[in-house]
Amino acid sequence: MFETKILQSGQGSFTTKEQLANTVREGLTLKNKCLPSWLIFDNAGSEIFKKITELAEYLPAACEFEIIRNHKNDIAKLINSDTFNLIELGSGDGCKTRILIEHFLDQKLNFHYFPIDISNGAVTNLVRTLEDDHPNTSLKVTGLTGDYFEGLKTITQDDSKQNLVLFLGVTLNNMDSDTAKSFLKSLRESLGPKDYLLTGFDLMKNPKLLYSAYNDALFEEFNLHLLDRLNEELGANFNKKHFVQQGQYNPSTRAVESYLYSTRDQTVHIKALNKDFYFKAWEAMQTEQSFKCTLEEMETLAVENGFEVVEHLFDSRKYFVDSVWKVAH
Ligand SMILES: C[S@@+](CC[C@H](N)C(=O)[O-])C[C@H]1O[C@@H](n2cnc3c(N)ncnc32)[C@H](O)[C@@H]1O
Repeated sequence: MFETKILQSGQGSFTTKEQLANTVREGLTLKNKCLPSWLIFDNAGSEIFKKITELAEYLPAACEFEIIRNHKNDIAKLINSDTFNLIELGSGDGCKTRILIEHFLDQKLNFHYFPIDISNGAVTNLVRTLEDDHPNTSLKVTGLTGDYFEGLKTITQDDSKQNLVLFLGVTLNNMDSDTAKSFLKSLRESLGPKDYLLTGFDLMKNPKLLYSAYNDALFEEFNLHLLDRLNEELGANFNKKHFVQQGQYNPSTRAVESYLYSTRDQTVHIKALNKDFYFKAWEAMQTEQSFKCTLEEMETLAVENGFEVVEHLFDSRKYFVDSVWKVAH
């Protein structure tokens, strides 16, 4: 069974024009202009991100592929029910999860896969690819387009099945501490005592490696895509040729921060906001942040937010961790 459902509310592709406009107004009127990275993930943005995850320099994806390949058995051992839900928050193209799905099918495990993402294009393509790759199988897939928690609610509400929730990639790294706190609180409230969360986390490493991971030409295309989206959906008149991207590790915030720099003095009009925004030459607008911290700090994040760490799955260089958590009692 393969199906896709669109949830009623949420961010990103299903953000109403008003939500999108408010977020952009708020971000561009800050003293230091800053827009949240989820704005980049419309259908085209998700496609560019998929290409980024295939780059060898983009260590988070390369390391996580290695972890999933080497630890698929350890992950399967978390299942102790006849049938379970495999729920993926912010699945994107689900390329790493497909390794797990193959393994679970080989092991004859009985599960229902629910990828949830705000990008309708990403969810639709993922469901279609799985359907093409697995004709005539028992695989059940329901793709949900919308916000993480809208999706989770529809699955866990009246379901007593064990849930294995995947939150792969660097999405937890991308949250500041208040956002991570409220995200983990909502997640904790959605999970039962037999459920597991497998969450990805990119660990602090040599800043030179962080620099090369976040400065490929594709990263620039990905960040500049945000301007295309604002032009298309809010009637803005950004000229992408007048901006350049750079990402760097900032030791005072402990995050890799990505900026679009205005290469000249310029005024951008946004029709939907009926407003002009002035950019000084070389003014920076932040478009992404990815916090990097140590394993101990990540464990503290789990414990302080009501989780118990069950185990850590590492890549061979210990650059990245997929950590298994349960709700603490
Ligand atoms: C950094 S990407 C990671 C994608 C994938 N998990 C991976 O590891 O390659 C973050 C994903 O989360 C999705 N996303 C961001 N905010 C979301 C939200 N509030 N609800 C659902 N999906 C969201 C984005 O569209 C994007 O596909």
